[in-house]
Amino acid sequence: MNRKRIIVGVAGGIAAYKACSVVRQLSEAGHDVRVIPTESALRFVGAATFEALSGHPVHTGVFEDVDEVPHVRLGQEADLVVVAPATADLLARAVAGRADDLLTATLLTARCPVLFAPAMHTEMWLHPATVANVETLRRRGAVVLEPASGRLTGADTGPGRLPEPEEITTFAELLLARADAMPFDLCGIKLLVSAGGTREAIDPVRFIGNRSSGKQGYAVARVAAQRGADVTLIAGNTAGLADPAGVHVLHITSAEQLHEAVTKHAPDAHVLVMAAAVADFRPAHVATSKIKKKLDVTEGPAIDLVRTDDVLAGAVRQRTDGQLPNMRAIVGFAAETGDANGDVLFHARAKLSRKGCDLLVVNAVGEGRAFEVDNNDGWLLSADGTEFALEHGSKTLMASRIVDAIAMLLRREA
Ligand code: CTP
Repeated sequence: MNRKRIIVGVAGGIAAYKACSVVRQLSEAGHDVRVIPTESALRFVGAATFEALSGHPVHTGVFEDVDEVPHVRLGQEADLVVVAPATADLLARAVAGRADDLLTATLLTARCPVLFAPAMHTEMWLHPATVANVETLRRRGAVVLEPASGRLTGADTGPGRLPEPEEITTFAELLLARADAMPFDLCGIKLLVSAGGTREAIDPVRFIGNRSSGKQGYAVARVAAQRGADVTLIAGNTAGLADPAGVHVLHITSAEQLHEAVTKHAPDAHVLVMAAAVADFRPAHVATSKIKKKLDVTEGPAIDLVRTDDVLAGAVRQRTDGQLPNMRAIVGFAAETGDANGDVLFHARAKLSRKGCDLLVVNAVGEGRAFEVDNNDGWLLSADGTEFALEHGSKTLMASRIVDAIAMLLRREA
C-alpha cells in the first residue's frame, strides 16, 4: 500500500477525543500520521495520547524545533491535512489566514487537499459568520464536511456533531485516492437513494433475504450529501451500517415498504438511485405463527412465491407518463454473473434498455466479488450509449465516480 503523509489537526472542542480514533485508524491503514493540536485541544486530550497514537512528537506552537522550520515543512510535505474537530474558531482563523499557532501556519503552507470535519453547537454552525466561513473555505477548494445531526454535549440536538471517525477516515482515503473527488457541486439537488437488501417474511421468525451489505448505496448517499445534495436514504437491511452524516435516513425492511417509500419521496426528488437489492419475489402467504418442522415428515413445505413490483421500472414509467416532473436522472444497479447466453456486459446492456433508466452501474458478482466486500469495480453504462469502466477501488471511490456521472448528466440537461 501507498504510505502517505497525513497531518491530523485537532482544535479545542469536546469532540477532540474522537480525533484519537481518526489518528489510530489512519496509522493502522499504514499512513505516516502527525498530530498538530491547538493549545485548547490539549485541554481535552493530552499530548502524550497523540504522541503514542502517531509515534511522533506533538507541538502546538511555531517556536518548538525551530531549526527544522516545522510550521512550513509539515504543511509543504503533507499529502493530506485533516482537521477534526474543526471548531468555529478554527474555521474563522483558517479563513482569515492567521498563523498564530502551528496548525494554522500549517494550513497556510499546505498545498495538498484539506478536509475540515466541523463540530460545534448548532447555533454556532448556523451562525451567518460560520456559514460564510464555510462557504469561503469551500470556494477556495477545501472540503468542509457537513456535520452529523444528533445529541450534542448537554441536552441540545441538531446539526453540529462531529461525523463518526470511520466516516472522516473514509473521506480522507477518498481524497488521497482522488484529490478532486469532492467538489461542492450538488447544492439544490434532491437525491433519493435506496440501499441494502429487502427481507420478505415467511413467518414471524424467517425471511427470504439476500447478501447485499448496503455499502455501495450508503457510499453514494454519503458522497452526494457531502457534495451538497439534499439526500434521503431509504435503507433496507445492511451489515449494521451507521447512518451517514447529513443524510435523512428512512429504515425499511421489505420490498413493499421500499416501494411505498420511493413512491412517497420520488415526486420531490431530482435524482433516484436504486442501489437496493430488491426481492423479485415474496411468499404469497406469511404464516402468522412459526412454521413447525413436523418430525414425521421428511419433505420440506413448499413456499409459493409471487412477484414484487419493480420499483425502478415503475419510476421510469411514471416519469415517462409525466408524473415525476422534477425527476432529472434515474440510476439503476445491476449485479450480473454472465452465463451461456452472454457475458456480464451483454446482460447489463439488455437490462439498461429494459429498465429504461439513464445510467446503469454494473457489477460482476460471484466468486466473492461485489457483495459484502469493501472494494469493487464495474462499469457505468449510459442511455446515450457511452460506457466506461469503474477502476477497482473502495466503494466510496466508486460512489464518487457514480456521483460524477450524475452531476455530468444534470449539467448536460440543465
Ligand atoms: N429493482 C427494483 N425493484 C425490484 C427489483 C429490482 O427496483 N423488484 C432494481 C434494483 O434496485 C436495481 C435494478 O432494479 O437498481 C436491477 O436489479 P436486478 O435485480 O439486477 O434486476 P432484475 O430486474 O431483477 O433482473 P434479473 O433478476 O433478471 O437479472
